[in-house]
Amino acid sequence: MERSLSMELVRVTEAAAVSASRWMGRGLKNEADDAATTAMRNVFDTIPMQGIVVIGEGEMDEAPMLYIGEELGTGQGPEVDVAVDPLEGTNIVAAGGWNALAVIAIADKGNLLHAPDMYMDKIAVGPEAVGKVSLDSTITENLLAVAKAKNKDIGDIVATVLNRERHTHIIEEIRAAGARIKLITDGDVAAAINTAFDETGVDIMFGIGGAPEGVIAAAGLKCLGGELQGRLMPADDEQRERCEKMGIDVSKILYMDDLVKGDDAIFAATGVTDGELLRGVQFKGGYSETHSLVMRSKSGTIRFVEGRHSMEKKPLLVMQD
Ligand code: FBP
Repeated sequence: MERSLSMELVRVTEAAAVSASRWMGRGLKNEADDAATTAMRNVFDTIPMQGIVVIGEGEMDEAPMLYIGEELGTGQGPEVDVAVDPLEGTNIVAAGGWNALAVIAIADKGNLLHAPDMYMDKIAVGPEAVGKVSLDSTITENLLAVAKAKNKDIGDIVATVLNRERHTHIIEEIRAAGARIKLITDGDVAAAINTAFDETGVDIMFGIGGAPEGVIAAAGLKCLGGELQGRLMPADDEQRERCEKMGIDVSKILYMDDLVKGDDAIFAATGVTDGELLRGVQFKGGYSETHSLVMRSKSGTIRFVEGRHSMEKKPLLVMQD
């Protein structure tokens, strides 16, 4: 892939974040998602690549844009798989909560798992604990492994878990083991990425969330030298058949190389609302400010990008010439 694609992709997530953030706290999650999707789609047309959406806003007949199979980019440049989540945390934005992101991951064609829209059981850790945890181990075993890898006591460990009834047993076991918990309302991509950044104070993420989000987070953790393991959780026969057709054995753990093959992935995310790692969009009168993270696994480069955008010259964050 071209190195310059990283910076191009930040322009895409910046545009989506600025548009979505206009809907912060207004209780209208679909409007926020539509705004992010439209903005993302507009900027993609200016990016020199031959992209195909493999994780998107839905199948062709259910999503007007950024649907699975849609071609993105100028039609010139590298052939890439594209995973988009224009607004990761629609409810978060609707409520003005924490950690909503606009996010994209790309990899060479054929290298991103075409994760079906179903649940995935996940565990995510930063670089120190890679190879030390397993979805097949108990919660307590994993907490002890992370504590040992990070030279901490188990009582120092912070685990992030989506606050869902289906996670009651996980939450109880973490509490019984003496570790600390950060319960989140939504947004397990940010939660997974946060495990690789010491300053977030998060050591591990557990629990069931969206499979598409799992692949996107895995791409981010690949850039960071962290690890995400996932296991698809088909809810019915139709979903089970879908996995079979894709050749995925749902009893097996999907490791990093199953989720994102090869050594070249790019991940870009812009904060829509404030989070532990990224600030949300702020409007300052004539301009907006964005805070983004962009990384490439091949080079290992991690960049935080602060953007200041003239709302007068580029209202949609694309030059209209
Ligand atoms: P949306 O942005 O599509 O609303 O997803 C937010 C999210 O919290 C994801 O981060 C997570 O993977 C998934 O939803 C969890 O699903 P559910 O809300 O059904 O538990």
